Amino acid sequence: MCGIVGYIGDRQAAPILLEGLKKLEYRGYDSAGVAVYNDNQVNVVKAKGRLKILDDKLDGGKNLPGTMGIGHTRWATHGAPSDVNSHPHTSSSGNIAVVHNGIIENYLKLREYLIGKGYEFVSDTDTEVVAHLADYYYNGDLIDTIIKVINRVEGSYALGIVCKDKPDELVAVRKDSPLIVGLGENENFIASDIPAILEHTRNIYLLEDKEIVLLKKDEVKIFNIDKEEIKKEVFTVNWDVSAAEKGGYEHFMIKEICEQPKVIKDTVSPRLKDGTIVLDDIKLTKEDVDSIKKIYIVACGTASYAGMVGKYVIEKLVRIPVEVDVASEFRYRNPIIDQDTLVILISQSGETADTLAALREAKKQGARILSVVNVVGSSIARESDNVLYTWAGPEIAVASTKAYSAQLAAMYLIALYMGLKKGTVSEQEVENIIEHLKTIPDKVANILNHKEKIQYYASQYFNAKDVFFLGRGLDYAVALEGSLKLKEISYVHSEAYAAGELKHGTIALIEQGTLVIALATQEHLFDKMLSNIKEVKARGAVVIAVAQEGNTEIEKEADFVLYLPQVDQLLAPSLTVIPLQLFAYYVAVAKGCDVDKPRNLAKSVTVE
Ligand code: G6P
Repeated sequence: MCGIVGYIGDRQAAPILLEGLKKLEYRGYDSAGVAVYNDNQVNVVKAKGRLKILDDKLDGGKNLPGTMGIGHTRWATHGAPSDVNSHPHTSSSGNIAVVHNGIIENYLKLREYLIGKGYEFVSDTDTEVVAHLADYYYNGDLIDTIIKVINRVEGSYALGIVCKDKPDELVAVRKDSPLIVGLGENENFIASDIPAILEHTRNIYLLEDKEIVLLKKDEVKIFNIDKEEIKKEVFTVNWDVSAAEKGGYEHFMIKEICEQPKVIKDTVSPRLKDGTIVLDDIKLTKEDVDSIKKIYIVACGTASYAGMVGKYVIEKLVRIPVEVDVASEFRYRNPIIDQDTLVILISQSGETADTLAALREAKKQGARILSVVNVVGSSIARESDNVLYTWAGPEIAVASTKAYSAQLAAMYLIALYMGLKKGTVSEQEVENIIEHLKTIPDKVANILNHKEKIQYYASQYFNAKDVFFLGRGLDYAVALEGSLKLKEISYVHSEAYAAGELKHGTIALIEQGTLVIALATQEHLFDKMLSNIKEVKARGAVVIAVAQEGNTEIEKEADFVLYLPQVDQLLAPSLTVIPLQLFAYYVAVAKGCDVDKPRNLAKSVTVE
């Protein structure tokens, strides 16, 4: 949800800012801009549309001199995408320029106040108030100014600010929106996310809420809201630039789909020791687990669908009732929570605004918190009692694939761990499931080796108007994710249905030629699925079925069958989702869609 970047050093800033923004484009891509100090002026250049337009306008940054500046790539919230609504925003005098990620909730009140003081507003954005407010409070000291500004603004923000009077200083602050500081040799950086600065440095500071950072080219100081200096530990990034590059693939999405065998292995292997599960990071004792009466899994989007799989698996292995809730609902519906409640948050970015707010609400009400997070040091990770990291590496494509697979793996680990503690599964059963779990990476690789078959189906059906995904039990949970993938990147309308529920209304939409993708990997529900396939076939549907190898009976009912390697059916979602991701990908490619940056979406939703 908007990406910001800042540079101060000896090199020309604009090319570095533009390169950084390229790495952040997944956060928003409807307009972009930069502000660079040069010759006693802060020069601002912005452009509506993809970053490429700005990049061309500036000849890759070459024609904008100066060695200090800030940049922004936008996902519009207040005001349509346009040149004037793009960031950076400047104060009327041109003294201050600001980039912002987040939402200033009291901007209307502040706007009125500032208009009363003679300030003129040119954009529809909430951010512009920050530029004018900073100008209003500016007393020659940027830290004082920022403190006054953040005492007035409400909402969420990561802010980067430069000032014409201060050519050697760049200041930044965050609250509920991510911001990191990159530490270089005679140069320093700010950014919304690590990939933006990784080619320059691996040493970073992870800022906490309301910590204010003052960057000079050879010095970084951090202050609290009382202007007391804070010492922070340097965090060293242990993955390299290539992890955030396409590496020969046409899109990040297909690269990330293909990385899944490794990602699952990386998430699972370090947690398996001597035939059992060891989760060093989770401090839940047997007594803790015994006392848990209710589990909520709270997340957004794909992460919530990983949570759906988690619900089935935890209820089966741990015998504790689990409710899955989307975070935006959970946080406002006054859920029934006490100290016997465990709330599991799932988030790739660890910064999703609703998930973070749900965490805080649950904590306030006394629940125990366990989060499953991919980005190390992110807000959700830092505020949770227990964190289980998914080791998926940086996920760049907006549509989540490898993070989902890693989240499924984490769900299995948590269920086995809790089941063992509670005694609802025997050591032998756990050992058995672990043996199957270890085979998942190779089986995923095996499915990926046959991706041409799915590409072929996609080439046949990419013009479909509506697609229905059906499944029962765990297959239903995966159907939800398959359907979301297709919608997100190919803009094909699709719905996921619990197969038994379809006949209570939605079957009315099935007509001659409607494409149905029927998931039938669950042994005990297989015959029921066959009946559901017959029902839709009788109304004219074309059915592509997904089943485990050996269940050839399905060929009699479905038009096409995709077979998956045999696996314990509890773990089947890790395999079933792969052809669905590939199908969505190839349909989007066939339709000429912008796969990695689908319209209207952003990867990290840090606003409500
Ligand atoms: C956005 C992304 C989705 C993601 C969801 C939750 O909608 O486009 O891919 O699943 O946010 O994000 P999180 O980072 O919390 O997993």
